[in-house]
Amino acid sequence: MTKYRIAVLPGDGIGKEVIEAAMIVLKKLRLEAEYLYGDIGWEFWCREGNALPERTIKLLRETDACLFGAITSKPKEDATKELAPELQGKGLSYISPIVKLRQLFDLYINLRPCKAYPGNPLNYRENIDLVIFRENTEGSYAGVEFYPLPDKVREALMLHPKMKDFQEVPADQIAVSTRIMTARGCERIVKAAFEYARQNHRKSVTLVEKPNVLRETGGLMLKMARKIAAQYPDIKFFEANVDAMCMWLVKNPQDYEVLVAENLFGDIISDLSAQLVGGLGFACAGNIGDNYAVFEPTHGSAPKYTGMYKVNPIATLLAAKMMLEWLGEKDKANTLEQAVAEVIREGKARTYDLGGTAKTLEVAEAVASKI
Ligand code: NAI
Ligand code: MG
Repeated sequence: MTKYRIAVLPGDGIGKEVIEAAMIVLKKLRLEAEYLYGDIGWEFWCREGNALPERTIKLLRETDACLFGAITSKPKEDATKELAPELQGKGLSYISPIVKLRQLFDLYINLRPCKAYPGNPLNYRENIDLVIFRENTEGSYAGVEFYPLPDKVREALMLHPKMKDFQEVPADQIAVSTRIMTARGCERIVKAAFEYARQNHRKSVTLVEKPNVLRETGGLMLKMARKIAAQYPDIKFFEANVDAMCMWLVKNPQDYEVLVAENLFGDIISDLSAQLVGGLGFACAGNIGDNYAVFEPTHGSAPKYTGMYKVNPIATLLAAKMMLEWLGEKDKANTLEQAVAEVIREGKARTYDLGGTAKTLEVAEAVASKI
């Protein structure tokens, strides 16, 4: 028996290439693990009408953690057209497999570290080292949306006095998306952020919300966050509005350590922060629950570059580093991070996004050679 069983889901396009790169480095680290490959993505949607087949869910249930590449997804109409002829007209609808995974395994934390590694020519500024805790299961991305507006929903919404302004708008001229926040959802993401801060010797946690306008949902988050913050007197607690936060992240990114936010706001500040430290070639994420976690680069399948082995594998290598940390393999995680940092500092093996000509697997080999 090996120590770990790790599910590997390359997915589509460059997902396959960056996972190949990550495997070179993981093998060099000699982690005691068995790697079990699974099916996910567009190919399986077209062929089987399901981008996340049951066998893959079963595989994840039998493993300790998952490393995921990237998938292709397309709008409703295009997705239906590309289904195999025998699956047409069966009312199948495409669901993003990564969104489904987050829900199925209750992966409520989306952890997004953003660190400016010295020597990265794409760094916006030096000394940026912040971590974002984005709520991953509810909020504005809860998926409760209506269009056209059903009569029953309109009736229910009429309980709110503001709805009178929209009373006469025809059902097909009005769309409603909800923002659903629960006390439990707010509490557990904020708690995760504070726990991380304490364990990693970070001095502050900043809640990113908009409670002055989104008074009910934002207000609930604020209330829960203040309650949790009171349990961590050793860590400073700041509150910021999301719009102002975007300005401050551009002005003084080095001032922030741990940010915590609801799904949509977390999504926005994550991409903004990722670009401060090199963009998609560097941005990794952990989708983390109490019992399982899926680690990924945040980029997509980049069809334009598929098969060329020219994209930057560092985001995926850093995702693998996060996975090692989560598994409790702190030394191996540090070794991997230092190897990545050294390759960045040397600046010899650089992919096109860094102005270089190195291929994806060359960068992985360079990192492996430092281990
Ligand atoms: P994308 O992230 O695939 O690529 C956008 C552009 O970013 C690329 O053309 C390339 O210029 C750059 N890029 C991406 N990864 C890079 C890397 N590792 N190194 C250097 N440059 C890199 O986003 P796009 O083109 O909007 O979407 C392509 C497909 O991916 C779509 O079907 C989309 O739905 C899907 N997607 C999947 C995600 C996932 O699997 N988690 C996330 C985002 C998009
Ligand atoms: Mg995003």
